[in-house]
Amino acid sequence: MPDDGRLWGGRFASSQAEAFDRLNVSLPIDRRMWPQDIRCSRAHARMLGAVGVISSEDAAQIDAGLEQVRGELESGGFEFAPGDEDIHTAIERRLTEIVGDAGQRLHTARSRNDQVATDVLIYLRERCDAQGLLLRDLVLVLIGRAEEHLGTLLPGLTHQQHAQPVRLAHHLLAYVWMLVRDRERLLAVLDACRECPLGAGALAGVSFPIDREMTARELGFSRPAPNSLDAVSSRDALVDYLHFAAQLGVHLSRLGAEIVLWASDDVGFVQLDDSFASGSSMLPHKKNPDAAELARAKAHRLAADYSGLAGTISGLPLAYNKDLQEDKAYLFDAVDTVELLLPATTGMVSTLEFQTDRMRAAVEGGFLGATDLADALVGGGWTFRRAHGAVGALVKALADDGRGLADATPTDFAAAGIEGFDVTLLGPEAVVESKKAAGGTSRAAVSAQLEAARSAVEGW
Ligand code: ARG
Repeated sequence: MPDDGRLWGGRFASSQAEAFDRLNVSLPIDRRMWPQDIRCSRAHARMLGAVGVISSEDAAQIDAGLEQVRGELESGGFEFAPGDEDIHTAIERRLTEIVGDAGQRLHTARSRNDQVATDVLIYLRERCDAQGLLLRDLVLVLIGRAEEHLGTLLPGLTHQQHAQPVRLAHHLLAYVWMLVRDRERLLAVLDACRECPLGAGALAGVSFPIDREMTARELGFSRPAPNSLDAVSSRDALVDYLHFAAQLGVHLSRLGAEIVLWASDDVGFVQLDDSFASGSSMLPHKKNPDAAELARAKAHRLAADYSGLAGTISGLPLAYNKDLQEDKAYLFDAVDTVELLLPATTGMVSTLEFQTDRMRAAVEGGFLGATDLADALVGGGWTFRRAHGAVGALVKALADDGRGLADATPTDFAAAGIEGFDVTLLGPEAVVESKKAAGGTSRAAVSAQLEAARSAVEGW
């Protein structure tokens, strides 16, 4: 047996090649799960003591030893050894150094396969709770900004072209609903974390009289996972989380893209606060929307994390395969990315200065009332196609002349075949107010939406 500190060296005659070792170790990635691993081991040892698989003295020694290991890891005093393949082996090795034989009993009725699957679910649950609060912060900021700007109008776009005026509140609330759906996905991830893999052993269960209900309960799960093969090899909750993160990334990317556009010199609908913008090393006049650009870019990375893990698992025969060790690289990357993105986006949005005069100028010129003119003609008995054609002709004539709809004279209307039209009905306020149906832009509809958004967030 090679004397290199491995916990599983008995079957081996020689040590591992360094090149293999470097590939195989997961400690640099999984060491962040030490609090969950200690918690899981303490629950396991207590249960082993309670059912009499180990003595209560051994269980007590393990518990005290793990408390010491916890302290060392927390204070940074823990020294990792060259043979520590992952966080599980590192903690067990150190425990055994501290408490001797009792430490050697900790892994009774357990495999790293059920252990790691349990640790990662506990970790994920904690991150989901924290991220739910980060999401809530962003949603509350968006709702607050929307409330401030119920009366601010800006051009709504299709194909990046002015289409119809909308309230800024309505525009911001669109993002709120995306995030409300993200929160539902996050809750579904928590739901997928309910079954405890611990006690599944390496793959086939264990032959000791363990109490899986006890460990499941103590570790905050609803019940033990019902099938040992599935328990050690399922990463469904992680895939669900990565889907949540990818979808959230898409939403934050759209918001980021919007802010980049709005902050551009040509649009100028927002000014970023200095605290959420950066300068150029060469161009002295620049104030760049980096936070928004990074939000735009990170979506691809989160999608890649999802695709990486889903791809790793698909095609894997049961049960545990070392491929699964890769799960944490994707998971932690996504967790870290989301936890960078959400607070920065919240800060950026809360400090944005909306340039309402620029928005006002943009809704006043142009042809944002064209559809409403056509609708009004339909109200007067025209067919929609005929109205569409006549308004199109009017728009063309005005545009050729460098004028907007507000400049149209009775002669322009008459030339397009439209008689006696009250042009004040085409002003931006009148147009947004006419969209009274639920989900539209009238003040009452947007106010109702604001209230619905507020109550969606209640209890988060
Ligand atoms: N570091 C491993 C992982 O993250 C722990 C499980 C190892 N299991 C094994 N059979 N080699 O997946």
